[in-house]
Amino acid sequence: MKKLGVCVVGLGFVGGQAHVPSINKIKNADLIAVCDMNDKLASKYATKYGCRKYLSTDEALADPGIEAAIIAVPTPFHLSVALEFINAGKHILLEMPLGVNMEQTGEVIRAAEKAGVTLMPSLNFRFAPIYTRIKEMIGKENVLGEGPVAIHYREYISANLLAAQWPPGSWAWDKEKSGGPLFTLSVWSIDLFRWLLGSDLKQLHAVAENHKLPKYGGTHGYTGYAVAEFACGTIASMQYSGGVSAGQTMVSMELIGENTNILTAVDTHTIRLNTDDPFETVYKVDVSGPKMWGHYQEDEHFVNSVLEGKTPDITPEDGMIATEAGVRIASMYRSL
Ligand SMILES: NC(=O)c1ccc[n+]([C@@H]2O[C@H](COP(=O)([O-])OP(=O)(O)OC[C@H]3O[C@@H](n4cnc5c(N)ncnc54)[C@H](O)[C@@H]3O)[C@@H](O)[C@H]2O)c1
Repeated sequence: MKKLGVCVVGLGFVGGQAHVPSINKIKNADLIAVCDMNDKLASKYATKYGCRKYLSTDEALADPGIEAAIIAVPTPFHLSVALEFINAGKHILLEMPLGVNMEQTGEVIRAAEKAGVTLMPSLNFRFAPIYTRIKEMIGKENVLGEGPVAIHYREYISANLLAAQWPPGSWAWDKEKSGGPLFTLSVWSIDLFRWLLGSDLKQLHAVAENHKLPKYGGTHGYTGYAVAEFACGTIASMQYSGGVSAGQTMVSMELIGENTNILTAVDTHTIRLNTDDPFETVYKVDVSGPKMWGHYQEDEHFVNSVLEGKTPDITPEDGMIATEAGVRIASMYRSL
């Protein structure tokens, strides 16, 4: 079968550590090149994976072997970089949020439609094995009866990890430029609930704060609470914290069923089902590397969709709805 020639653009946290190793392993993908203006990073990945390196998008766009790009540059540059690839007729998987506001997001979507290229938003939680298993359990297996009446979601990220990912002065801490860390990090969970429930957001309310962490010299902590109602009637509560101590990173999602059962997903590895009898059943999800949070699977879905000329399961509209929800949560930052 023909392979799709792919370039990964932006080799930071998610581009370099999740997308490059994924594309390198996907059977129908050919990792033609990596692109980042940071020569050290570009050289490191080009050498490790034996592909070409480009230090600018202009250089990458001159390579006829590149048919598609995974764009993982900071969100403030999504619009400009995405438009360059779209206007050159390349298919793109674009990291989330799609833009820093709804104007930018709309512009990217319209440009891809006009150029007739695939634009798939990177909503990788939909491919994470723990969440695909949860979807099966509440869908096909009806473990929550008619379905969840409530979802309680908690996402804590240790300040030391955020400081290592985004050093002082990083785009991610600049609320004016990028919407700030909570905007960046809330889009995946909102989309996860829409997808699990198969239902659209009816209302969303939030309150959030953002504080500097002198201990990490430039890193911001944040706390966000949001509550959403979906058209199907399910209510979701979300707690986000990006300012907890080392070792406290955790993601947990608890779904309370119409039949009183409780289904809990803990990080990427454990599912607990609580019922009247038996009290508790524990299932383990054994997965590691870039498959854990679904990056490998989403990249594979993108590659195969393009090769087969099919519309990916995740549409630009899904990306737009999640971005809009993130914008609304971030607009509720208490001003300091
Ligand atoms: N899907 C996920 O799990 C996930 C996780 C984290 C971040 N993200 C998203 O991915 C994007 C990148 O986040 P990150 O944390 O990896 O950022 P990062 O700051 O770690 O890395 C971004 C990289 O892009 C490079 N870059 C900037 N402009 C460029 C350009 N014009 N051409 C080529 N390279 C350029 C930078 O030099 C840097 O190496 C953001 O939109 C973020 O919201 C997604």
